[in-house]
Amino acid sequence: MIDDAVRLAGRTAMRLARGIPVVGSRFGAPPQLDLDGRVVFVTGAARGLGAEISRQAHARGARVALVGRSLEPLEDLAAELGDGAAAFEADVTDAAALRRAADGAVAAFGGIDVVVANAGIAPPSETVATIDPDEFERTIEVDLLGQWRTVRAALPAVIERRGHIALVGSIYAFFNGVLAAPYAVSKAGVEQLSRTLRVELAQHGVTAGIAYLGFIDTDLTGDAFDDQHAAAIRSAAPGFITRTMSVESAAAAVLSGVERRAAQVTAPAWVGPLLAARTLTTAVMDDVLIHSPRVNEAIQGAESAATKPDP
Ligand SMILES: NC(=O)c1ccc[n+]([C@@H]2O[C@H](COP(=O)([O-])OP(=O)(O)OC[C@H]3O[C@@H](n4cnc5c(N)ncnc54)[C@H](OP(=O)(O)O)[C@@H]3O)[C@@H](O)[C@H]2O)c1
Repeated sequence: MIDDAVRLAGRTAMRLARGIPVVGSRFGAPPQLDLDGRVVFVTGAARGLGAEISRQAHARGARVALVGRSLEPLEDLAAELGDGAAAFEADVTDAAALRRAADGAVAAFGGIDVVVANAGIAPPSETVATIDPDEFERTIEVDLLGQWRTVRAALPAVIERRGHIALVGSIYAFFNGVLAAPYAVSKAGVEQLSRTLRVELAQHGVTAGIAYLGFIDTDLTGDAFDDQHAAAIRSAAPGFITRTMSVESAAAAVLSGVERRAAQVTAPAWVGPLLAARTLTTAVMDDVLIHSPRVNEAIQGAESAATKPDP
């Protein structure tokens, strides 16, 4: 019993030591992945976080494959970045299109070192009882299955380069998904996907990780926060949680995770402690939400809007 506790403490200490920049490799951390000269394949690269990750990766010397569902904004970004950037059209709900994009990136740049599965959408702020079933399933199609299809399409190339897979998750991987169930379900699934990939690909020298990001100043958040029911939920949460971070800092966090081949990245700073104490924080959070008058009003508002007859 004591032996087991000592072994567990030792393993935990080693894991923490591996996370320390620079000296972590002395404790068995995978070698750093310098982005200079690497090929980075980013989905949802047309705007928001994906565009900023692409810009910052390119600025660090990477060649970037910009993947998205319409070519024009991707070509504009490729033109802005210049040499070492190319656009590929693929909707993440289309596995064959993603395979074509991955093949195109390999043909253009010789391989793929890093995949950033980023494309995502926010569902309408509805309850599980009121959401249009097609909207629920479409969110999972893009936010969860889109990431799995992206990984699968690029995997042979990433294995060949012993690269890294970065899945863009969210605090919703462990936060309560009230009025955003399909999004939270997807991000919880993405978390499992990243952990599974990390173990399954270790023997190929490939690493995988997830970014648990708080709210970012992008269109996705703007649209979600504009909804009156989502705004009511937002007003019930402590301000530090719903304050948006800049897209620049979120992208920098994702890329620092790529360079460290980290299993987890958290941003902003408060996310890490809440994640580490998730057994406690999730229990408290769910209880607070159940007893919050503002949250209950938002749920009732969503339900009564759904049952109101058309004028
Ligand atoms: N914003 C936040 O607060 C926040 C917080 C945590 C995590 N995240 C995650 O960060 C990622 C990026 O979100 P964002 O905030 O940058 O959102 P955004 O500004 O709305 O950008 C989303 C991007 O994904 C693309 N996309 C959407 N559906 C697609 C599909 N079916 N196939 C291919 N591309 C598709 C969009 O393409 P179009 O331009 O063609 O629409 C757009 O380029 C998402 O995974 C999101 O869950 C965001």
